[in-house]
Amino acid sequence: MSRLLNEIAIVTGGGRGIGEAIARMFAREGAAVLIADKDGDSAARVVAEIQATGGKAVATTTDISDPKQVDTMSQAVKDTFGPASILINNAGISVFADPLKLTDDDWKKCMSVDLEGVWYCTRSVLPDMLAQGVGSIVNIASIHSFQIIKGCFPYPVAKHGLIGMTRALAVEYGSQGVRVNAVCPSYIDTKMNTDWFNTTPDPAAARAAAENWHPLKRMGTADEVAYAALYLASKESGFVTGSSLMIDGGRSIVYHD
Ligand SMILES: NC(=O)c1ccc[n+]([C@@H]2O[C@H](COP(=O)([O-])OP(=O)(O)OC[C@H]3O[C@@H](n4cnc5c(N)ncnc54)[C@H](O)[C@@H]3O)[C@@H](O)[C@H]2O)c1
Repeated sequence: MSRLLNEIAIVTGGGRGIGEAIARMFAREGAAVLIADKDGDSAARVVAEIQATGGKAVATTTDISDPKQVDTMSQAVKDTFGPASILINNAGISVFADPLKLTDDDWKKCMSVDLEGVWYCTRSVLPDMLAQGVGSIVNIASIHSFQIIKGCFPYPVAKHGLIGMTRALAVEYGSQGVRVNAVCPSYIDTKMNTDWFNTTPDPAAARAAAENWHPLKRMGTADEVAYAALYLASKESGFVTGSSLMIDGGRSIVYHD
């Protein structure tokens, strides 16, 4: 219950799904948590529930693709708790298309959240982390950072880029005490996937197929991703930087079905 005692964490997209699980787990482990979500109501709901159990949390309505809103977010954490020692870049969206049918707007939407937004959040906390000589940044990437599913363009472009950002910044700032790592989930049972299953002709069959693709024959849970983020955010992973931790039920090692 104290793996993150005295830590100050920002969790983007913490209003639901994986981010919500991370925010709740980090608060239980003693961190003060700022939950930033473009859906401010959902962030506020999670904050109220954390506070009701004695945890420290605050919410902001933040669209991470807007650098001004991101700067307001990092100022809010400083004003409320102090400078962030942990940043969880979790907010993300799926944009899946046939490459030549993809609109310019959808390309920009994907890159502006999944890649640029992550950079805006990162650069907004880095100066304080460097000044303190300590910090842990965890990027929620994806199995799409390494494997390709036909018809899912350009999400993997952004998620491959996120691994590049993770590795580049790990090398840039390791000597100054800031670690940067990625967590790479496969299918996790969240609204993001339920929404996608619901776009298929037979959502139940789509879900069953997704479960079956994994050697563990199920989807993962948001908590199973949160445990990986907790390890990488905490001092337990003090000698780990630039890494990509697969949380994928073994899916990424399968050659083909
Ligand atoms: N669910 C999966 O199977 C899965 C697998 C691999 C990777 N991921 C990644 O994990 C992360 C979380 O996924 P999830 O399944 O929990 O998603 P989700 O759609 O259930 O929740 C995402 C949250 O992020 C918020 N958000 C979206 N765009 C935002 C923006 N521009 N600014 C601020 N907040 C924003 C949403 O309001 C929502 O609360 C994403 O980066 C996703 O790419 C998910």
